[in-house]
Amino acid sequence: MKQDFWHQCWENTHIGFHQDELQPLLIEHFPQYIEADDSRVFVPCCGKTSDLLYFSKRFKVIGNELSSIACRDFFHENKLVPNIKQTLRFNVLEQGNISLYQGDFFSLQAHTFKAFDWVYDRAALIAFPENMRSQYVSHLKTFIQENTRVFLLTLEYPEGEISGPPFSIKQSDVEALFAGYEITRVATRDLTGQKFAKRSLPVSKLIESLYIIKAQ
Ligand SMILES: C[S@@+](CC[C@H](N)C(=O)[O-])C[C@H]1O[C@@H](n2cnc3c(N)ncnc32)[C@H](O)[C@@H]1O
Repeated sequence: MKQDFWHQCWENTHIGFHQDELQPLLIEHFPQYIEADDSRVFVPCCGKTSDLLYFSKRFKVIGNELSSIACRDFFHENKLVPNIKQTLRFNVLEQGNISLYQGDFFSLQAHTFKAFDWVYDRAALIAFPENMRSQYVSHLKTFIQENTRVFLLTLEYPEGEISGPPFSIKQSDVEALFAGYEITRVATRDLTGQKFAKRSLPVSKLIESLYIIKAQ
């Protein structure tokens, strides 16, 4: 999607993808994959997700989000007052363990950060249409180092039943996008007939999948 699309979603509060509660598959599965030394997580296209707070209890969290409204609301709604600084391409809002880089993901340079133990992708990959997916994943890969693991959540529904976002991603898509990486589908949730966050998607089948991905 073009950046204007997302700016308008936030300006008009068309943010049905936002969930007030923590992501269930995160709470259920993440703890068993944490290693003793893990301390840093990167959350691309983070919106104002409460999952940032979940990570911040034990991790340094770097989030990235295009919308200044989302970044402002994240801190405001959680009664946090961030320090704000400006770099050439980003406004950086920081409070405690959380730093949100407000600006374009594709301008964020991985080498300017210490290595991340985790990358958390909830509704980021599935937000990009097919023609932007490889571009998104190749930039994401610049944040994946030897010990980085990706906690990736996708949605799958029968092709063509709706036009995204969210876009449907099959296991074979994940395998093609992350060819050469170790990919494990750890869990699935059948959301058929249920809401995806605040949205009812008119699809005949809806499956959420959790993948853990790492460099081989
Ligand atoms: C479907 S939402 C998901 C938000 C969040 N991950 C969540 O789970 O609520 C996709 C988010 O990606 C952001 N986004 C889209 N394009 C972006 C870009 N080029 N750089 C940074 N953020 C972007 C949008 O503003 C939007 O908040």
